[in-house]
Amino acid sequence: MTRGVRKAIVPAAGFGTRFLPITKSTPKEMLPIVDKPVIQFVIEEAISCGIESILIVTGRGKHAIENHFDHAPDLESHLERQGKQDLAEQVREISEGVDIHFIRQKKQMGLGDAVRLGRSFVGEDPFAVMLGDTIIDPAPDTGIHGLKELLDVFEETGASVVGVRRVPEELIPRYGIVDGDVQSGENLYRLKQLLEKPSIEDAPTNLAIAGRYVFTPEIFECLESTGFGAGGEVQLTDAMNELAARTPVLALAWHAIRYDIGNKADYVRCFLDYALRHPETRDAMRAYLAELA
Ligand code: G1P
Repeated sequence: MTRGVRKAIVPAAGFGTRFLPITKSTPKEMLPIVDKPVIQFVIEEAISCGIESILIVTGRGKHAIENHFDHAPDLESHLERQGKQDLAEQVREISEGVDIHFIRQKKQMGLGDAVRLGRSFVGEDPFAVMLGDTIIDPAPDTGIHGLKELLDVFEETGASVVGVRRVPEELIPRYGIVDGDVQSGENLYRLKQLLEKPSIEDAPTNLAIAGRYVFTPEIFECLESTGFGAGGEVQLTDAMNELAARTPVLALAWHAIRYDIGNKADYVRCFLDYALRHPETRDAMRAYLAELA
């Protein structure tokens, strides 16, 4: 049986308060990782996992995201006139390869509300949610992308599934934390309870929701009845609790490397890791780090 997931919602509407002052005028999702904005990595991950259609949920002050994925014919022809075909091609590729739609969240009412805005885009299909401020590298041991691992679980089980990672205790209050029964292997859980940003004392585990989800459309019914939760926002985590009460919801503990761009230390680590891989900066960065050491 095939349960092909071809659509993704990419929430990118948050104020990015943890990253002020830069986020006063630059969306967090547009912060550069060497020469690409964070959200471009998310879109590339989606494409490599077979997603064909993406809805980006934006909000006030997020025009830079729309501009980035739009055609830029004047820039492309300028580069071509200068003989910079490679760059022209790179710029063109950003707006090709996938069908991107935008919707604006008029009021900041949380992640659950942002996902809810995708209901008519999704229709009756299963879909992915990929947070626009989270970069997931393929797992070092398998080379498989984070979302792809979730899609494989969904293909096999038909159940909604979320990617989770163990976090150090002090980071627990920053994330949605899950508790569940081991389902198979060591890393697949059936969820019993999800808590949005609990205190360390209240957290049943240190398994934190890590920015990639695959849902059946039933999540929208749950979102309709979800009120305001932690932080006075409509929390996706609360709707997932409701979903888990109706039907099995799974969590897959990943080995994939995750960079939470809402967290300054993670952002800097991400920039550094990519600078150490980028062909134009790799050697200079290695030499610089050796000098610092
Ligand atoms: C959101 C979710 C949270 C999840 C986190 C991952 O929180 O509400 O459950 O763990 O993303 O980054 P936010 O970062 O929007 O505060």
